[in-house]
Amino acid sequence: MPDIKFRVKRQDPGDKKNPEAHWEEYIVHYEGDNLTVLEGLFYIQEKYDGGLSFRYCCRASICGSCGMYINGAYRLACQTNVKHLDTDLITVAPMPHLPLVKDLVVDMDEFFAKYEYIMPWLIRHSSDPEKELIQSPKERKKIDMPVDCILCGCCYSSCPSAWGEDNYLGPAALLKAHRFEVDSRDEGGKERIARWNNERGVYRCHTIMNCVEACPKELNPTEGIQWLKRAAVRRKLLGKAK
Ligand code: SF4
Ligand code: SF4
Ligand code: FES
Repeated sequence: MPDIKFRVKRQDPGDKKNPEAHWEEYIVHYEGDNLTVLEGLFYIQEKYDGGLSFRYCCRASICGSCGMYINGAYRLACQTNVKHLDTDLITVAPMPHLPLVKDLVVDMDEFFAKYEYIMPWLIRHSSDPEKELIQSPKERKKIDMPVDCILCGCCYSSCPSAWGEDNYLGPAALLKAHRFEVDSRDEGGKERIARWNNERGVYRCHTIMNCVEACPKELNPTEGIQWLKRAAVRRKLLGKAK
């Protein structure tokens, strides 16, 4: 039965005796070739320390709960097979630049507040259609990339513009604005543009592209943000974005 060493960043800011961050090491035994980092964390929780805190839900790269900083890169713990990391040491830390709750759990409240601010739902002003709104394959293709966002927050954590005090909406919220801006069925562009066409929105993005590198779903928030900047000009000159 092979084993592998995990080095996990631990911190409980609420622990008055030991509130500082520190690393702890654990040996994880496993069978076969399919141990994921998330399964390694379950093992540690069961065998060594039931107090180890981390988030997960779907275990299938869909819910976005298990974004972490693993061996120096943003990854989903449930999607990361330790074999593929090709190393004897797995380091696991919480996503940096976000407030820590405990161990590997970060506070996502601000991330989701910004997401909600962008109105991430389909807005219609026309009267309700009598049958479903059909999209052509060409129209559907425009949302192929942004609909795959699972809101893991990796891009947001990696974005230098989001680290500051400027309350930047961040790549995930703006990618969602792009997702509805290009959706042939949506009619909420005029409401939404006031929320992203400003210094807190698209103009705070400096095209550093950390977000593209960080995204475990291989999406391209920068492309979406650039599209929005062009859409703002089109709306101003032509009165329409699509
Ligand atoms: S490209 Fe824009 S959104 Fe992405 S990391 Fe850079 S500044 Fe942030
Ligand atoms: S764009 Fe990628 S990294 Fe950002 S929240 Fe969506 S899935 Fe996660
Ligand atoms: S547990 Fe849902 S994405 Fe990893």
